[in-house]
Amino acid sequence: MERPNWAPGDIDLERPSVARVYDYWLGGAHNFAADRAAAENALAAMPEIRNVVLNHRAFLRRAVRYLLDQGVRQFLDLGSGIPTVGNVHEIAQAADPEVRIVYVDLDPVAVAHSRSLLGDNSRVGVLQADVRDALGVLASPEVTKQLDFDEPVGVLMIALLHFISDDEDPWGIIGRYRDRLASGSYLAISQAGYDEGDVESSAYAEARRIYNRQVTQSTFRNRAEFGELFDGFALVEPGVVRVPAWHPESPADVEEAGHRFPGFAALGRKA
Ligand SMILES: C[S@@+](CC[C@H](N)C(=O)[O-])C[C@H]1O[C@@H](n2cnc3c(N)ncnc32)[C@H](O)[C@@H]1O
Repeated sequence: MERPNWAPGDIDLERPSVARVYDYWLGGAHNFAADRAAAENALAAMPEIRNVVLNHRAFLRRAVRYLLDQGVRQFLDLGSGIPTVGNVHEIAQAADPEVRIVYVDLDPVAVAHSRSLLGDNSRVGVLQADVRDALGVLASPEVTKQLDFDEPVGVLMIALLHFISDDEDPWGIIGRYRDRLASGSYLAISQAGYDEGDVESSAYAEARRIYNRQVTQSTFRNRAEFGELFDGFALVEPGVVRVPAWHPESPADVEEAGHRFPGFAALGRKA
């Protein structure tokens, strides 16, 4: 079995992981045969998956740029994944080298690779933790070293919350982060879901079945359920929209959203 030198010794190479399957779909190189097999099985059912994940990445980029324009200079990226091109620190520190970021992920490969990529960037922290333990994350030295909670923070949950089921109380988890934030802080969320009345294509339904069986269960949320994740935040324009339609960069984005893109995005501001 391949075990490259960047792979932490304690991970199970035989089991596909959310982070590494996503890395493969994004065109990254930090994945193993089991990840690639699961990713390819889902792609065979629905090749548009690549397009879906690229649209979530584009929302990440747009939300970070929007927040920089609002003066936000600190970011907490929850479920940050395996760094590929266009990570938060690259976008944000290109605009202002003083920006501080903490990446949080459960996946050991995501964390190891984030650490090695960041080298001596003293304004970025990396924490291996379960984001559901909000109080633990907020109290961790990695977070308290970088982030000043008396100032606005941009909290990012990009393509994360479909991995947190209703039984796990996403509203309570988000509320614990929200309560720690200063006024003028923001929350950006994107996740998989459908509008009431959407008909899931048989290809997507099959890809979802494969993913749920081979990688992990996912919880889709409709527009109304998605909006309920923003309790205590005022949504900025345009509110809850399909992912490509959030501050679209081109007519193609708008057209993409019109094709019943299977996921929503929004950005909320804490008053
Ligand atoms: C689909 S990826 C998205 C990565 C990144 N946010 C992006 O947009 O490119 C989801 C990430 O969330 C992480 N994740 C899932 N559940 C988590 C949890 N409970 N705590 C921390 N990370 C989690 C996975 O390991 C994975 O890296």
